[in-house]
Amino acid sequence: MSQIMEMLIRRGFLWQSFEIYGGLAGFIDYGPLGNGLRRKVEDLWRKYFVINERSVEIDSPTVGIEDVFIASGHAEGFTDVAIECSECGRVFRADHYVKEKLNLEVDPTIEAVKSVVSEFDLRCECGGKFKKPEHINLMFETKIGPGRGKKGYLRPETAQGIFIAFKRLSDYFRHKLPFGVAQIGRAYRNEISPRQGVIRLREFNQAELEFFCHPGEKKHPDFYKYAGDVVTLVDKFDKEHRISLREAVEKGIIAHELLAYFIGKTRRFLLEAGIDEKRLRFRQHKDDERAHYAVDCWDAEVELSYGWIEIVGIADRTDYDLSRHAKYSKEDLSVFVPFDEPVKIKRQKVIPNISKLGPVFRDKARRIAEELEKLENAEGDVLVVIDGEEIRVPADFYEVREVEEEIHGEKVTPHVIEPSFGLDRITYAILEHCYDTDYVDGEERKVLRLKRWLAPVQVAVLPLLSRDNFVREAERIADVLKESGIFTEVDTTGSIGRRYRRYDEIGTPFCVTVDHQTFEDGTVTIRDRDSTAQIRVEKSGLVKVLKELLAT
Ligand code: GAP
Repeated sequence: MSQIMEMLIRRGFLWQSFEIYGGLAGFIDYGPLGNGLRRKVEDLWRKYFVINERSVEIDSPTVGIEDVFIASGHAEGFTDVAIECSECGRVFRADHYVKEKLNLEVDPTIEAVKSVVSEFDLRCECGGKFKKPEHINLMFETKIGPGRGKKGYLRPETAQGIFIAFKRLSDYFRHKLPFGVAQIGRAYRNEISPRQGVIRLREFNQAELEFFCHPGEKKHPDFYKYAGDVVTLVDKFDKEHRISLREAVEKGIIAHELLAYFIGKTRRFLLEAGIDEKRLRFRQHKDDERAHYAVDCWDAEVELSYGWIEIVGIADRTDYDLSRHAKYSKEDLSVFVPFDEPVKIKRQKVIPNISKLGPVFRDKARRIAEELEKLENAEGDVLVVIDGEEIRVPADFYEVREVEEEIHGEKVTPHVIEPSFGLDRITYAILEHCYDTDYVDGEERKVLRLKRWLAPVQVAVLPLLSRDNFVREAERIADVLKESGIFTEVDTTGSIGRRYRRYDEIGTPFCVTVDHQTFEDGTVTIRDRDSTAQIRVEKSGLVKVLKELLAT
């Protein structure tokens, strides 16, 4: 086990779920520190992608009915390829297995996997032969209600809850594009062989933003804020660029401004959360790598002990989801977009001849006429359907004329740009990037250099001695800090040096020490985690000083 993993488990950041029953891969519990940290990452995300964005946040069920996932394409296309050993029955994710066994640098394509398994006579660790590679759906299936019930799935992404509420959301925004809708919550994927600790989970936390825009306007009014940011991009041909976002759009490396905007905003968010810029890049999906709904996708990847790992996916989903849900639900999921000025157009209009329709079709004539008027053009005899009955209307029962009309807008199905964040991977990446070793007084120490505001325990109040009066004073001070909203702990056990190390290791930015002088002049010391320097302050001004320090 890596040093950091050992620390995270020992200190209460995260644990294996179901541990006392032997545990199960793909599930983790957040302990008190991990939970505190992830919540703060979530709050920062909300600040960037909800509060400081043209968006709102919703919360929809984690269980979805089958219809949703048939329409979304997940029931059919959300699969990985698995290989099963015919001897021991173990199942592996084929691309990962082949990559590991053949020491490949990149993930092999599904086609490559299939041919490798047969051509190389790849064997299981037990020596057994593999059966033919098979596509396996990653969704957890469930049954809703008693008896036969209704088939459902645990959601594999939070996004679908947003797409299917689109009509309501569009009303909420008074049908004005662009607008964004965010959702933070659990997602579930029955991963085939999750072996990378916290990286590949079967139940995990996503924070997703679906940004709905006009298909012809993939821009954002705030792009100028990020346009000058220089980022590391790896395009789909594996070419690396260190380039400003503006230049990347101008040169066509990034297809449009809206994708570039979200790459820029994601980068700033990750840096503010504590990701190391030198270990961050944005990699474009290759053509055979994209999800079934995306025409383009850039992943934010970070370098971890596991290699380069995707922590965010920024995809152009076009109108794929809204069009599919419109088709399957038979609801109109378009938006009427008014023009700045009315536009005159010429069009063909079908004009029914009522005096001919009436005598032949009698009581149905009016409805047939209405159906004919709906046609954009017509030629020869026309078939219309009334109450399920097909009726042939002869060519001379209508005429087609060119008419000029003034139109005030058009109906469009919005496109969606989606930045999708895995909060568990981001939280873990922050921990790895902030975990550091240095030397204090000639001794090695482990220190978690979390951003101050992000630390799950912000201040530790430490009595120098474990005598009652020292402990009571420390607790009184801690109560004042807690009341002012600062996450504070009191620790009375072990030497003061050991206690400082303990809090350095979990990233606590400041230790307040109650010492002999506290009882003489009402002052305490504040020790800085990174420099280990100490300052002495009046107890009465402690909250103010700490709040100022924590905000930096
Ligand atoms: N709605 C789009 C979507 O779900 P994705 O790339 O499949 O896209 C988005 O997932 C993010 O969710 C990933 O970048 C990753 O951080 C996280 N994620 C995906 N699968 C995961 C898993 N099995 N365990 C932990 N995080 C996962």
